[in-house]
Amino acid sequence: MNKVPFFDYPGIYNRFKDEFDAIFQDVCSRGAFILQNDLEKFELDLAKFLNVKHALGVADGTNAMYIGLMALGVGRGDEVIISSHTYVATANAVEMVGAKPVFADIDNNNLLCPESIKLKITDKTKVIMPTQLNGRCANMDEIRSICKEHNLLLAEDSAQGLGAKYGNEFAGTFGSFGTLSFYPAKLIGCFGDGGAIMTNDSMLADKLISIRDHGRDKNGMVSMWGTNSRLDNLQAAFLSLRLKHFEEDILRRREIAQMYNDGLKHLDELSLPESPSDNSLNFDVFQNYEFAAKDRDELRLYLSEKDIGTLIQWGGHPVHHFEGLGYGKDKFKDLPNTDAFFEKCLMLPINMSMTNEDTCYVIDSICNFYQKEK
Ligand SMILES: Cc1ncc(COP(=O)(O)O)c(C=O)c1O
Repeated sequence: MNKVPFFDYPGIYNRFKDEFDAIFQDVCSRGAFILQNDLEKFELDLAKFLNVKHALGVADGTNAMYIGLMALGVGRGDEVIISSHTYVATANAVEMVGAKPVFADIDNNNLLCPESIKLKITDKTKVIMPTQLNGRCANMDEIRSICKEHNLLLAEDSAQGLGAKYGNEFAGTFGSFGTLSFYPAKLIGCFGDGGAIMTNDSMLADKLISIRDHGRDKNGMVSMWGTNSRLDNLQAAFLSLRLKHFEEDILRRREIAQMYNDGLKHLDELSLPESPSDNSLNFDVFQNYEFAAKDRDELRLYLSEKDIGTLIQWGGHPVHHFEGLGYGKDKFKDLPNTDAFFEKCLMLPINMSMTNEDTCYVIDSICNFYQKEK
């Protein structure tokens, strides 16, 4: 058993056990399982929180992107520019609608790089879809202006971005649509899979509502092709409770991140994320605390001996490295920042079960590791 585990899944339940149990009994005794009031309530709560017109519960974050791209009419012959430092889900969604994912490089915040995007635009490009990774938004001013200049659609994989802001706008609300994942490890995770799609476009919202429910309209008439991708009513009820406490979670995540930054900033061997106190255009929610470390693998081993759980994102592979998909590191010469980052990237534990003492223990252990090396 780790002293500071990377995830604490039972902790998600135990934190509000009595309330979750009461929700379970209430929803189940009402027999309210699919497309019921609790989902509607959660959708309204979420839309209000994000200051967006429509938030719709769907099966998961991957389906949210798939359905969104489908509703926009993206398909065969189209290209969608994405980051390779993302979950394969982003590329999967693009492929699922028959379009081609095109990878642009990351910037020094490890997010989709506007300069690299410009080099990837062709006459087939239809959408730019940044991943709002680790609870931080990409440079949305620049990405928006690229979309405008080249007449491209903007969508967001904001699976990791609930509550993150760029300027005054929330991740997931910048373009035609944005998406969320409620996978248990996410900012507000449910007890299984779940996701949402957000849009300010009411016509698009109507289409999304149909597509997630077999293409049916409110009268049950089928007016378009669709799929089955509905957020369970029970999960939505659980998520309403998590959303209610989310502001305090954001504060806590930012507090832990600030402790990491303060405690580790003197180490030249590390390249840390921007501090919460840096007061930039970004308001980060730290879904993950990801950084680059010299001797990453040795550090990771050392921390695991100290019972500290760490993780290398995506199992250490950006999407363009997967040979089974017809890609491979050697086939891409134009993603140098992504390749370089994956030689060194690591994530420290940051979750709602962590105490300040745990955080200090992680910091001290990292300092000791580099001290030992000198
Ligand atoms: C950046 C990113 N995109 C997409 C997804 C997919 O979300 P889901 O697992 O809910 O399908 C995830 C979650 O793992 C993610 O982290």
